[in-house]
Amino acid sequence: MKRLIVSLLGIFVALTIRANEGMWLPFLLENNIGEMSEMGLHLTAEDIYSINQSCLKDAVVGFVDLDRPFHHFCSGSVISAQGLVITNHHCGLDVVQQHSSLQNDYITNGFWAMNQSDELGGNKIGVCFLRRMEDVTAQVLDGVNDTMPSDKRSILISNNISKIEQAASTDSTLKAHVDAFYCSNEYYLSVYEIFEDIRLVGAPPISIGKFGGDTDNWVWPRHTGDFTIFRIYADSLNRPAPYSIENVPYRASNYLKINAKEKHENDFVMLMGYPGTTNEYLPSFAVEATQDVFDPIVVEIRGKSIDIIKERMRNDQSVMIKYTSKVASLANAWKKLQGERNGLKNKHVVDQKREREKQMLAWIAESDERKQLYDNLLDDYEADYIEYVKHNRAWLLMSETIYKSEALTVCRKIKTLINENMEDSLRRAQILDYLNEFYADYDSETDISVTQMLINEYLANAQPEHVPATLKKWNNTASFAAAYHKSMFTTPSTAISFFEKHSVVNEKTLLKDPLYKLASETNDIYNTKISKPLSQIQRKNNHHQRRFMQLQRECFADKRFFPDANSTFRVTYGQIRGFRPSDAVVYGPFTTLGGVMEKCDMDIYDYTVPDRLKQLFAANDFGTYCNADGTMPVGFITTCHTTGGNSGSPIFDADGNLIGLNFDRVWEGTMSDLQFDADICRNIGLDIRYALFIIDKYAGAQRLIDEMEIIGN
Ligand code: ARG
Ligand code: GLU
Repeated sequence: MKRLIVSLLGIFVALTIRANEGMWLPFLLENNIGEMSEMGLHLTAEDIYSINQSCLKDAVVGFVDLDRPFHHFCSGSVISAQGLVITNHHCGLDVVQQHSSLQNDYITNGFWAMNQSDELGGNKIGVCFLRRMEDVTAQVLDGVNDTMPSDKRSILISNNISKIEQAASTDSTLKAHVDAFYCSNEYYLSVYEIFEDIRLVGAPPISIGKFGGDTDNWVWPRHTGDFTIFRIYADSLNRPAPYSIENVPYRASNYLKINAKEKHENDFVMLMGYPGTTNEYLPSFAVEATQDVFDPIVVEIRGKSIDIIKERMRNDQSVMIKYTSKVASLANAWKKLQGERNGLKNKHVVDQKREREKQMLAWIAESDERKQLYDNLLDDYEADYIEYVKHNRAWLLMSETIYKSEALTVCRKIKTLINENMEDSLRRAQILDYLNEFYADYDSETDISVTQMLINEYLANAQPEHVPATLKKWNNTASFAAAYHKSMFTTPSTAISFFEKHSVVNEKTLLKDPLYKLASETNDIYNTKISKPLSQIQRKNNHHQRRFMQLQRECFADKRFFPDANSTFRVTYGQIRGFRPSDAVVYGPFTTLGGVMEKCDMDIYDYTVPDRLKQLFAANDFGTYCNADGTMPVGFITTCHTTGGNSGSPIFDADGNLIGLNFDRVWEGTMSDLQFDADICRNIGLDIRYALFIIDKYAGAQRLIDEMEIIGN
């Protein structure tokens, strides 16, 4: 009997542990480690993050574009002593695309470097290692007080930040960055080592790496083999260096061991990486505006662009290559925001937030001191927010229409370069570089249809004072088409030879170009009528939100608050667990290769399966990578709290071994960027065994398997 009670108690504890919300700071894990151990973790906080000993964080990387070194667009992990890095296929797709042509179509066929010398370099991405993180709030807020005007405050803070960053970047290989946390109530320093020579090693064909395509994107059950492999190269002293044939594979200070054993529902999991942005602490009225005003604008307009581009892609293989990555990024947010809206509505998040605000108001009313601090905060915030909605709506309309037209984007970029203060020969070189790169992926027939639609949307929805004069004149399709064709920027050879011929360009000449003129007028409207009022009101919002965050932390002092995602290193944890997305529907936590074959439809691009994969399936040729019952695992879901940027994040078992790669969230739970709901928020991972099977059995890239340390069944 006693035993029964104890085990029932165990089950009860397991079921009530729902502390899966949160993206925690690696250097403050002491606050979570007790709970993590209770849930099953076998490691100490020092095993995860330490500046004194080798630890897991040393094998986790952030992917960056070299011109934006502190914005981590994806995450990844080091899986061999020779600098092999695994991330998602969709994180590496741009690189694969840049090396692809109609003759060497690596997107369609996949790419495997069978020798180290075949690994493809010259890419514009880098990977960073977090070397240390520390709280620098006191130094950043030195001299700042609550009564000073907000612009003075910002200047003081940014001066203090520059000093801290400079002081921390003494070693030329280290790059320091201070980020704001808890809505700018706290500031932490991150010091990174950023490697710039990252070479493509292996990618499966898109029919595996993006199986299910945009149709299955954000959807569970999922069968996507979303992985790609790179290698970090360093100079002879193992330091970061720009791409050079002299560079050698990076000798990794730590790399992850891979656990290829079978997984089970409720297994403890932990995940690390670089989540981009969340907004968990907004007031009710801000969530309401996101749900009812902002999200619908993006969804509506992007949906139309996607339809047009996809139609062109179906009919023309060169458009397919050029636009695969572009349409994926449009479609990604388009679909996610629909899931977010549904989740927010179904879970009545606005009402939940209103309820909490009532509790806060009651808490404030309890003391004079609180009243003095917070009495009108919510009212003032809401009044300013109404103004913000108006200006942000105007900006969203412009950024989702005119700013998404490719031809108009070129014009804006050229305008910026023309007006920048630099030597003429350098300017010309930069313009030509930009144009060559841009036109490599441009199809004017696609862009003219998209631009026409976007302009119509803008005309139908924007306030009259935000409509450029040129647009008002193009009141019919024929005059728009004539202007589009007349513009030199829609014919690559004309634009390129123009800038090759003219070493000095007077903007007056360019203003005769109809699209350049439109882009220029749009810029003026943006600068004078949109950006100024928007940034003014945003400054007020930021001030209110900082105070509102303070209020929440003080009022709900028992709750453990994690800071919103901001592209800094985070640790999250949870369990492998299925869920109930809607009435009478239950989702299991695992998918298998059998599911790929069920979805297979050779007439539908997203569901095409390569012959070789079918043969391996038919022969049950899964090597040592399958489950005990002979099924080949593909995907799994866990209760970790993740967001964009967490793609490629390693998913660890309780011992810190790699068991999967995060690559998505379930559609029903994408509301977790604004509020995490333990019932329906799940992240989707690729089972590492599927990646191993593809590398080994499908691609025959045994040399890569040999580099890894695999703990087998
Ligand atoms: N939804 C995932 C993310 O936000 C995956 C996107 C790429 N995959 C795709 N099928 N479009 O990045
Ligand atoms: N696919 C996303 C990424 O690229 C992760 C999905 C999400 O959680 O937003 O980071």
